Amino acid sequence: MEKDFVPTQNLVYPLEGTVGWKAPSNIALVKYWGKKPHQIPANPSISFTLDASATRTFLKFRRMDEAKEAFSFDFRFEGKAKDSFKPKIATFLGRIETYLPFLRHYHLEIESSNSFPHSSGIASSASGMAALALCLLELERLANPEMTLEDFKQKASFLARLGSGSACRSIGGSLIQWGSTPGLSGSSDLYGIPYPYEVHPNFNNFHDTILLVHKGQKTVSSSVGHGLMKGHPFADNRFQQAHENLKKLRPIFKEGDLESFIAIVESEALTLHAMMMTSQPYFILMLPNTLEIINRIWQFRKETGTAICFTLDAGANVHVLYPESEKTKCIQFIQNELVAYCENGHYICDRIGKGAQRISTSL
Ligand code: PMV
Repeated sequence: MEKDFVPTQNLVYPLEGTVGWKAPSNIALVKYWGKKPHQIPANPSISFTLDASATRTFLKFRRMDEAKEAFSFDFRFEGKAKDSFKPKIATFLGRIETYLPFLRHYHLEIESSNSFPHSSGIASSASGMAALALCLLELERLANPEMTLEDFKQKASFLARLGSGSACRSIGGSLIQWGSTPGLSGSSDLYGIPYPYEVHPNFNNFHDTILLVHKGQKTVSSSVGHGLMKGHPFADNRFQQAHENLKKLRPIFKEGDLESFIAIVESEALTLHAMMMTSQPYFILMLPNTLEIINRIWQFRKETGTAICFTLDAGANVHVLYPESEKTKCIQFIQNELVAYCENGHYICDRIGKGAQRISTSL
């Protein structure tokens, strides 16, 4: 329950210091699309935690003599003050204040940078909010060093969710499930959990090459997109389908059945876009090059039997997924046939990762 995340002890918080965390991005296999109040997902989702695409955040904190009316903080992104981002952070701090009641007592200097190029069209909210949540919770852990690692990760995921839903899947690795669903032990709407069942070695070291078809801002923000699922004519069936796909994935993960994995992952990606195409107002977020890439992947798979597939997030970029055992073939295919469809030929070679890491701040 939410109240379990409110600190109960009287803690003595540090006067000042600096903490740092690096949090990865993640790519959903079963998509979260549609939410209830307080960032509660309308359906469960599961994602691969990524490795290379990540946000690094440092938080410098100094206790003030008295608590302030408004949160006292500065935000710098890639070395420059970024005031346009402050309202989003202030909203986040307001949402998590009940769970980190010391926030108004500190002046916070937040310094973030992304490993992926700015405006690459890659959503940075998941990694960004996860890294910030981890830094803020680290401040609580300094006052409460007894906190177990499991409790720390669970609360970090809970807090990150309140910044951006999918951020709750960017704390741990490598396969993270979020959203309560029957038969999945420990699943919760409040935080992500490491997938608790057997996963076949076929999924170890899985690759995700992100093809940057369009590097600009997304035309529809994810909060608008989630909102469009309210009253959507296909919403109930879609939410039900996500539960069913999660159930179907259990034997697939166990047995390493890549063919059935592909069928679910690609269908999920196209369903996400189908929901946008059938909402009011309606959108098409794929571009002609997105479809060219999808068709080429299908053709290559048909001709070679390679277990390569695609997934999409709420934009035109394509995530190309393939197992470690097929990486040489797949990278060659991507370079020969797909990179031509990327904006300025840009793409990011990523793979499944182990989750967020603390960054040392000692000199
Ligand atoms: O975390 P949000 O609110 O930006 O939503 C993310 C939604 C998708 O990326 C499209 C799907 C997902 O599950 O990550």
